[in-house]
Amino acid sequence: MAREDLEIAKAEWQELANEIRKHDEAYYGEDAPHISDADYDSLRQRLLQLEQKFPSLAVADSPSRKVSGASSGRFPKSHHKQPMLSLDNAFTDGDVQDFVKRVMKFLGLDTMPVFIAEPKIDGLSANLLYRDGKLVSGATRGDGQVGEDITENLKTLDDIPLDITGAPAEIEIRGEVYMEKNDFAALNKRQLEKGEKPFANPRNAAAGSLRQLDVAITKARPLRFFAYATGVVSDDFAESQWDILQRFSQWGFQVNPLTRKCKSVEAMIAHYREIESQRAALPFDIDGVVYKVDDLAFQHRLGAVSRFPRWAMAHKFPAEKATTIVQDIEIQVGRTGALTPVARLEPVTVGGVVVSNATLHNEDEIVRKDIRIGDSVVIQRAGDVIPQIVEVIKSKRAKNAKAYIFPKTCPVCGSAAVREHNAKTGKEDAVRRCTGGLVCPAQAMERLKHFVSRKALDIDGLGAKQIELFYAKGLVKEPADIFTLEERNKTSLARLENMEGFGKTSVANLFAAINARRTAPLSRFIYALGIRHVGESNARLLARNFGSFEKFANIAKCARGDEESMAEFLSIDGIGEAVAEAVINFFAEDHNIEALERLMKEVSPTPEKEQKTDSPVAGKTIVFTGSLAQMTRDEAKAQALSLGAKVSGSVSKKTDIVVAGPGAGSKLKKAEELGVQTMSESEWRELVAPFL
Ligand code: IVH
Repeated sequence: MAREDLEIAKAEWQELANEIRKHDEAYYGEDAPHISDADYDSLRQRLLQLEQKFPSLAVADSPSRKVSGASSGRFPKSHHKQPMLSLDNAFTDGDVQDFVKRVMKFLGLDTMPVFIAEPKIDGLSANLLYRDGKLVSGATRGDGQVGEDITENLKTLDDIPLDITGAPAEIEIRGEVYMEKNDFAALNKRQLEKGEKPFANPRNAAAGSLRQLDVAITKARPLRFFAYATGVVSDDFAESQWDILQRFSQWGFQVNPLTRKCKSVEAMIAHYREIESQRAALPFDIDGVVYKVDDLAFQHRLGAVSRFPRWAMAHKFPAEKATTIVQDIEIQVGRTGALTPVARLEPVTVGGVVVSNATLHNEDEIVRKDIRIGDSVVIQRAGDVIPQIVEVIKSKRAKNAKAYIFPKTCPVCGSAAVREHNAKTGKEDAVRRCTGGLVCPAQAMERLKHFVSRKALDIDGLGAKQIELFYAKGLVKEPADIFTLEERNKTSLARLENMEGFGKTSVANLFAAINARRTAPLSRFIYALGIRHVGESNARLLARNFGSFEKFANIAKCARGDEESMAEFLSIDGIGEAVAEAVINFFAEDHNIEALERLMKEVSPTPEKEQKTDSPVAGKTIVFTGSLAQMTRDEAKAQALSLGAKVSGSVSKKTDIVVAGPGAGSKLKKAEELGVQTMSESEWRELVAPFL
């Protein structure tokens, strides 16, 4: 494999990862999605494709390994006793067939095991912990490991029993909190009457209603709950998913009545079609069907890959569509100068949500789909705010429909906007960028917004709105200005305290929040600079590796043309040429260096802490060779990966352990030659068993 291919893939991966994290934050942190589920799914699919092709990209903090969902910080944290996983998606009948085949192969079965098919409820999942039959805590999913403790809110739901009899001494019961469509419509009507903002869809309404600090508000909202899974259980009480659902029902939970046992792929797909045909008429929103291996012993053996169980799969419904008219096309200028076209649409309702914008991605997309102003278009969304245009209805094209001419200059600063030539791919970049750099107010402002954003400096009380205001007033033009604001405010004629929206206390709080971030972790500072390709995970790699800002900056400044410094960058596991080049380019600009010097006078980033994992194989590279007797090869690999190890197909100096079964040949020999540790299948099982 050419190194260049990997580099190109890595750059694309990084952009995708950043994008996915951004959407995760919008979706889970703010209950306000920016793109359609379908678009989100395709970003994730592409990320997975890249990781499958280039396994080195699947780093530990890849969004592919994480269950999305940051916590809002409003509620205390709650650690799930067992992680709350997400579900892998199937979109076609073929995907379902492949899933069943994979399950059979993993388990080494000749006949198909029974599957349970349940509707996939479009709400938010909750984890309920019962001890000795009493509900003791309830939490949101959060990032899968840690959610928000919303016990008191969950207790207000009629569908959640406070006491259950005949259950194991300790049991986590999981399910979906949702709002019925009728209740949602009535709630929105009440919201409007009260002059409050309506919710975009029942899912957002359920999330917003549940995460209320005032429990009385939650109690007054029509929330419901379907139970569908367990987390930790102290004693076995069921042998199958079907049994679990029966017991849930006996304990007083609602379980979805559209649940079926399926003994063939045809039966699974038939049930999916049946549910799909009833979808619009159902009282609640669903976005697909979940298939689960029924037998719990099989589920246990199948285990999970990063964020998904191997024993379950969500078969998604196609996105909802509607037709409308493109009234205009506008350009938004982002932090990196990217010009992104957005279609302004005649407002139309798609699946209960009013839509008036669609993203057009880039100029080629407009040409490819031949989208003109005045065109009738088919748009699609699935639980989103900004949907996408699927196609133009050419038969309805008006004579005066105007082809859109993509600007060659930045609409904000007037600088030339160009499409860079990518030397590696030999192709023109899809994105046109403003060349205005620091003179472009749109870029400068977006960069400042990025600098203070949640994953960057995360300054309380200093968000996008305040940055826009301070920038417009000329108070903050670059990051250092944020930290000198307090000093300058003391002698200013236009004091912040006198500005609209600010008071004495809020200004004092703002300065305290700013001062508190003078010592934020180094990785946050590096991320906050907004260097291309340097997302959260690369920032962390750089911070861990260099330890101090000075060292990072010095090497970055020297690396142009200096092989040793460049080699130092590239020797960081996970940092490739695209990232190194972007960092070097950033430090090659005098104005960046000057702005950084001013910033560094104000702040002292703190070095990173090392992460520790307790498994003996974490971070090690394992090779399995020969035949295994007690598990399939897939199962063995899965175990290793779940313990934080890397699995490789070939033995090299970088290999740490070779697990060799009978019939092992050249790989075992090579391991012995290289002095790599080798062990038998039983030794491997003994080593890892305590950590599984
Ligand atoms: S089972 C380990 N069953 O879908 C499997 N999930 O995309 C855990 N969901 O987080 C999930 N209906 O919020 C399961 N019948 C159902 C579901 C369901 C909706 C949600 C749940 C989960 C998400 C995964």
